[in-house]
Amino acid sequence: MTDQESRGSSDEMILTCEGLTKAFLGVKAVNGATFEVPKGKITALIGPNGAGKTTVVNILSGAMTSDSGTTHIGSTDVTNWPSYKIARLGLMRTFQLSRELGDLTVLENLLVAPKHQPGESLVNIFLRPSLVKRVECENVERALGILQTYGLYDLRDNRARELSGGQKKLLEISRGVMASPTLLLLDEPMAGVNPALIERIGGYILDLKAQGVTVLMIEHNLNVVEKICDHVIVLAEGKTLATGRLSDLRANPEVVTAYLGEVINASTHS
Ligand SMILES: Nc1ncnc2c1ncn2[C@@H]1O[C@H](COP(=O)(O)OP(=O)(O)O)[C@@H](O)[C@H]1O
Ligand SMILES: [Mg+2]
Repeated sequence: MTDQESRGSSDEMILTCEGLTKAFLGVKAVNGATFEVPKGKITALIGPNGAGKTTVVNILSGAMTSDSGTTHIGSTDVTNWPSYKIARLGLMRTFQLSRELGDLTVLENLLVAPKHQPGESLVNIFLRPSLVKRVECENVERALGILQTYGLYDLRDNRARELSGGQKKLLEISRGVMASPTLLLLDEPMAGVNPALIERIGGYILDLKAQGVTVLMIEHNLNVVEKICDHVIVLAEGKTLATGRLSDLRANPEVVTAYLGEVINASTHS
């Protein structure tokens, strides 16, 4: 299968970025990253540590501005938009290091996620209390359903900080899902979790795809990439080195030298 086939036809791209750069203290963490994310598929963003993957996700989600380059969601130019505006277009992200609100309960962590809550407006609180109440009740119902799906229902009243590392990863994904995303960016959603949970999270991501959510995930575990990802983007030294299906990339000497060789060596020596 060619790269074009693994991405789909050009009118199906949900996210396009071109020539993104970002320097920290003069060091270019991202140095011309250019790629497209096909709608309705699961795309992996892979590459060595320090390749700039998290920085790219920070830029795409509006957590950070780029120094140059452009980002489009569909046909909308969202270059350097703030994250709240990008979220309105349906893009949500999770963090490599879980960022749960530790003092809030698991349920409350989900209730802060939905967009456009009428209770955010003082006018609504005073003039439309029944609307505020109704939407709050609907959100609680939805949140409890999501917690059930992700196996966190029994922990709904626990403080988020009391969760294990794996449970915090599930909470990150649940919070992303609560915002009803069309495009979900996951930064290493399976890092540091046990093999059984890796399998479960992989299943959840496939379920999201089946529901029409597009996923872009940073992932180091190539078995996972092989199993669930349709399309792969390889980033090295802040640049897009190659894109395509993992099986094709394994045959690409540049990719093997920059990344896959390192991973294969690491797995044979561990
Ligand atoms: N906020 C920051 N300040 C300074 N340097 C940073 C910052 N974020 C990332 N970097 C540097 O940018 C490079 C790319 O980092 P990162 O995007 O986290 O890579 P990856 O996620 O691929 O491991 C690394 O050299 C990292 O040290
Ligand atoms: Mg990272």
